[in-house]
Amino acid sequence: QQLNDYKLWLKYEQITDSKLSASYKDISSKIVVGNSTPSLLNAKEELALALPQMLGTDIDFLSAIDKGNALIVDVYQNLPVDLKSAVSMEMMDVKGDGFVLKSVKLTNKKVTVITAKTDLGVLYGTFRFLHLMQSQHLLDDLKVVDNPKLDIRMLNHWDNLDRSVERGYAGSSLWNWQKLPEYVDQRYIDYARANASVGINATALTNVNANALILTPMYLEKVKALADIFRSYGIKVYLTARFSAPMEIGGLETADPLNAQVQQWWKDKAKEIYAIVPDFGGFLVKANSEGQPGPQNYGRNHVDGANMMAEAVKPFGGNVIWRAFVYSEHDDTDRAKQAYDEFLPYDGNFMDNVLVQVKNGPIDFQPREPFHPIFGAMKKTPLIMEFQITQEYLGFSTHLVYLPKLFEEVLDADTFQKGEGSTVAKVIDGSLYGNKLTGMAGVSNIGTDINWTGHPFAQANWYGFGRLAWDPYLSANTIAEEWLRATYSNEEEFVDPIKEMMLDSREAVVNYMNPLGLHHIFDTGHHYGPGPWVDNLGRPDWNPVYYHKADSLGVGFDRTPSGSNATEQYASEIAVQYNDPKTIPQEYLLWFHHLPWDYKLENGEILWDAIALKYQEGVDQVTQMIKTWDRMKPYLSENEYKEVSMLLEIQLKEAKWWRDACLLYFQTFSNRPLPTGVERPT
Ligand code: GCU
Repeated sequence: QQLNDYKLWLKYEQITDSKLSASYKDISSKIVVGNSTPSLLNAKEELALALPQMLGTDIDFLSAIDKGNALIVDVYQNLPVDLKSAVSMEMMDVKGDGFVLKSVKLTNKKVTVITAKTDLGVLYGTFRFLHLMQSQHLLDDLKVVDNPKLDIRMLNHWDNLDRSVERGYAGSSLWNWQKLPEYVDQRYIDYARANASVGINATALTNVNANALILTPMYLEKVKALADIFRSYGIKVYLTARFSAPMEIGGLETADPLNAQVQQWWKDKAKEIYAIVPDFGGFLVKANSEGQPGPQNYGRNHVDGANMMAEAVKPFGGNVIWRAFVYSEHDDTDRAKQAYDEFLPYDGNFMDNVLVQVKNGPIDFQPREPFHPIFGAMKKTPLIMEFQITQEYLGFSTHLVYLPKLFEEVLDADTFQKGEGSTVAKVIDGSLYGNKLTGMAGVSNIGTDINWTGHPFAQANWYGFGRLAWDPYLSANTIAEEWLRATYSNEEEFVDPIKEMMLDSREAVVNYMNPLGLHHIFDTGHHYGPGPWVDNLGRPDWNPVYYHKADSLGVGFDRTPSGSNATEQYASEIAVQYNDPKTIPQEYLLWFHHLPWDYKLENGEILWDAIALKYQEGVDQVTQMIKTWDRMKPYLSENEYKEVSMLLEIQLKEAKWWRDACLLYFQTFSNRPLPTGVERPT
């Protein structure tokens, strides 16, 4: 890994096109930044860092516009009157921390304005302005209005207090609890900058499985130090709250949410936190899930638990984010159905500062899942999307997989719950049912690795998550292009093929790991390599055989009415389509159907052959990625080239490993030869 990778998509490399560079200089060599707040100061510092690097000149910061052209960076209310009126139309469209970038002609001079209602909006606008420059857009005639479409745009760190990171593949946790609060690592600032540059405005610092220690005074002092750093970048801190905290650290004998002492304990705790972190975001809670304590331990339900905590943070404007990732080994209902069954009855009963956080699919961050049926079905409760940016089931930080493609697929999915066009994006941005609070969470892939994310291309997943949390209607294509231009190069000959490579990479991993709707066939615990044969775990619902159900007759999980009937949790338009193997989209075939090995697909292939060919296709796609990368050598430094090249070689080896392991295993049931075109295992 290289030092340059540390800079992420904020490299601000020199603009070599002299015409462009001249026009950018013309626009931005004299700058007036309002200096009244820390966020505006951040904007100024970013300009001071970026512009000399990109343009090779010094920048003059002035206190007011004089004669020549200038860049004005300030909140709307502080703009001079003539500029105010020049942007007033655009300002009418600005919401929340949205911003305006506009080129304005005044007598004898041209002024470029970056403005917003809030100073944070101005900072966001500044980052966008610099991005447009870095990606070589013409800026002479700017007219951009952009608003965040979701309120809470947050990272979830699954970081433990000993700095290990659950499902983290990029080094240790950034948070150095031992040295905090006094020692402020520059990384905290750069982390905040990077997040702000894509609009991320919240972070949950600790693992959903964490114990309650983070809520003790000693740790809260450290949390305060981080919150103080993040504040000027618009990032609010959330903490995971273990349900049993009143017992673990509070000395109470129960954590029953209906117990008055417990309720008071949470109220006092909230008061204590807000006294030192006045803009604290609230609590993120994993309760009665995978062994974590929760209200059900006391015969209460999710509403009792969530509302109790919501009551505690309400006076301070805080939220409770209550996770819906629940399934029980004591329930023999199909795991994919359990969260919906458990949560739907509570729709409408949560307090208005509770959001229910739902993973994108009904099982667990698989390379491909159908969207979670709670989306669209739970109408009165604000739902916050939970994506996983860290690649637990997608090759860790070793495989190149561009996740915005996966995120886009989920966001674009039509739930049909309020007629055609009721997409998941419309559910989470609140437009479908008019929910007031909205958000998207991403399980972070960030650690202490020099390049933050382990794989250099995994930076694109952090970037892309942020962009989609800002605007869930952006395309994966646009995002890849933005990221490549800011990170690597503006050369079309580089950007176009590498963008294609990124866009194809998600389907490649699906093909070589879990094609045609297969899922959860990963080896135990680590979830890295294949383990479809695993059948000996304490919990049946953790065994891969539970999910693929291969036998001599066929393969796949029957979730139609003849099986678990999980399809009934979707709108009837989807249920009807998915119940029939002839009409279901092929990528979900074995998610919903158990079919004979010789079942004929639409293209005439029998199922066994189709599975084998898909595995091979995945391997071929990685081979293609390697070829593409090799052709890009002229555009890359030796190190940049080598780094990704070595990783792709591992990815190819492991794609073959997946193919061979899965096919050899499934072949013991199918008893059929591999079709032509599929390489024999060596
Ligand atoms: C997955 C993951 C766990 C995590 C859990 C969760 O099951 O493997 O490490 O704790 O998701 O989201 O709570």
